[in-house]
Amino acid sequence: MARATSRYVCQDCGESFLRWEGQCRACGAWNSLVETVVRVTPRASRAVGPGPIDGAPAVALADISESDVPRLPTGIGELDRVLGGGIVPGSLILLGGEPGIGKSTLLLQAAAGIDGTVLYATGEESAAQVRLRAGRLGLLDGRPGRSIEVLAAHDVTRIVEAAGAAHPSLLVVDSIQTATVDELEGAAGSVGQVREATVRLMAFAKGEGVAVVLVGHVTKDGSIAGPKTMEHLVDAVVSLEGERYAALRLVRATKNRFGSTDEVGVFEMAGTGLMEVADPARAFLADHPEPAPGSVVAPTLEGSRPLLVEVQALVAPAGYGTPARKASGLDPNRLGLLVAVLGRRAGIGLGSHDVYANLAGGLSVGEPGLDLPVALALASSLRDRPILPGSVAVGEVGLLGELRAVTGLERRLREAARLGFTRAIVPRSGRGPAIAAVPDIELIEVSTLREAVDAALLTERAHRGDAVPAMLG
Ligand code: TYD
Ligand code: MG
Repeated sequence: MARATSRYVCQDCGESFLRWEGQCRACGAWNSLVETVVRVTPRASRAVGPGPIDGAPAVALADISESDVPRLPTGIGELDRVLGGGIVPGSLILLGGEPGIGKSTLLLQAAAGIDGTVLYATGEESAAQVRLRAGRLGLLDGRPGRSIEVLAAHDVTRIVEAAGAAHPSLLVVDSIQTATVDELEGAAGSVGQVREATVRLMAFAKGEGVAVVLVGHVTKDGSIAGPKTMEHLVDAVVSLEGERYAALRLVRATKNRFGSTDEVGVFEMAGTGLMEVADPARAFLADHPEPAPGSVVAPTLEGSRPLLVEVQALVAPAGYGTPARKASGLDPNRLGLLVAVLGRRAGIGLGSHDVYANLAGGLSVGEPGLDLPVALALASSLRDRPILPGSVAVGEVGLLGELRAVTGLERRLREAARLGFTRAIVPRSGRGPAIAAVPDIELIEVSTLREAVDAALLTERAHRGDAVPAMLG
């Protein structure tokens, strides 16, 4: 029999307590406990129900039959690439992203591309609104108009029932924050609701072998709203990133039980939905004909895919108070560190300057190879000198101002050469064979940040026949 009790559930980590406390004892968050009325039904809080996993005896590793995982391609190359070849039947995928970034659009397009039927459960929009979007995407006529069924519902029990009856190839739940479990009394979107809804959809996915995609909204700090525990439950977490007012969108897997998490997919939001970008490597290059002071192109590597991205920096004398350090698309702590290393090790003092750095096109990159291009962009902006024309730069900067190699240098430089770059400022390879020569790229190998700044900015003067002596250092 159901018994109503009251628990205090942490909205950050999902841990529940009998009494209210100012700080969650599990994750340390302050003021995160919210009273939630829970009707405890026996077994209701059990995690995943019996699935195909349970009940089988242990088998020696070598005796397990090599059934390769079947895949359900969505027909969208960039998305399939991130998923590792398509959606795995019976898997639970979470698609996260800020509101308005294009999650529903992407899923509707994916649903249309799947070879099979799709149940699209929406708690965010009415069926008519989904139809309107499908019309805009040109999906009403032809096969998708029949193969996609739309169910406007919040109640997870109803969604699971409908999906159990229809037995589609794919079930989409848009979004998990609007899905509710009737037995629980918390508001839709509260941690308890989101977690229980996820657990039930998970049981359905595993039990019936139906792939389920959940849409999850992302909060301001970038985490998927609701409990962290949700990310542990699902098989894959895919996020849709980008600046809402810019056209480029990046699809990235942050967790994937059926593939690599390194791959990215690049899309552009057009009038008729998300379009795959034909040449992603150049998508994040801002186009201006002449090299501008403060701009450096970095050949980054996202998984196996090289992306060339323009780092832009602006350095300006600060007014009163603490100088500003603003970064977008890159780690602000890293920017602060580079400013310090530039000052102490390369003679580029930015202590009394406001510093802004960002990546063109709304991309965000976490790899250390971005250090050198960012540092050079800062130096270039301070000196008001563009860096060598036709050059890219990549390398990690250490605290002593030394430069360290990055992985996959050859692949990065080949891509740079393909896009017409002719020089690369890279860390000098200390030991082992020198970097295999990349055709059409002149390597400028440097060991320290100071050397890099000299090579990138001074040769420019020589290049122009500028007689003014060097003022660096
Ligand atoms: P949507 O998929 O509703 O975002 P989410 O589900 O992540 O909240 O799409 C949001 C934006 O995309 C919306 O502002 C309008 C824009 N859009 C286009 O530019 N072109 C299109 O074809 C569609 C369907 C949407
Ligand atoms: Mg939506």
